[in-house]
Amino acid sequence: MRAPCWSAPATSPSDSGPFRPVSFVAMVWQWLVYLHVASIFAFLGMHGASMVVVYRIRRERDRKKILDLLTLSGETARPMYVTLVLIILTGVLAGLKLESFSHWWIWLAIVLLVAIVGAMTAVAKPYFAKVKLACEVRPSGVPRVSDEELGQILGGPMAHIITAIGVVGLVAILYLMVFQPGAV
Ligand code: HEM
Repeated sequence: MRAPCWSAPATSPSDSGPFRPVSFVAMVWQWLVYLHVASIFAFLGMHGASMVVVYRIRRERDRKKILDLLTLSGETARPMYVTLVLIILTGVLAGLKLESFSHWWIWLAIVLLVAIVGAMTAVAKPYFAKVKLACEVRPSGVPRVSDEELGQILGGPMAHIITAIGVVGLVAILYLMVFQPGAV
């Protein structure tokens, strides 16, 4: 069975132990894999606010607090996109070294990532925009939507749908990265 991408190839059969010599190319590749994994942690850290907010607002009825939480989530969008770019950049460069692009699993992982980003933009972003609109208060002081309607929007299934899209996609990509199905 082929060694997984995250194990460093030994430069000769006699090279073993913690101090074995590592070629420059192998070292660069190890750093790329390191930065790739670090970018994933950074992404989860940045996107964590949105993940928490989507459930925190379900039981909140104070419009001002909901708007504050939505603002917090919105402020993490830009750094989250930076970490996404880093994930793709480091992943593509590490993949080039391994000629991974001749394997279907890496293409499927890329398709899944693009599909999740598309689904999040089409479902999660408009949902938060809808909640934001529902929390707005007219200059007269009367809310745009009734408390009952706001409760229905917040208590609906959208939080679970968004979570299902993100978690299933994330778990599937993780499986492809670690098990690399089809690789010999
Ligand atoms: C691979 C995993 C994921 C990716 C690539 C991803 C990507 C994205 C992207 C690109 C956006 C649009 C951000 C914007 O332009 O404002 C977004 C929004 C959002 N995502 Fe995810 N997401 C993932 C997982 C999750 C999970 C697991 C959850 C919930 C548990 C989640 C909850 C949300 C929410 C609530 C928003 C709306 C944020 C806002 O508009 O302020 N995401 N996501």
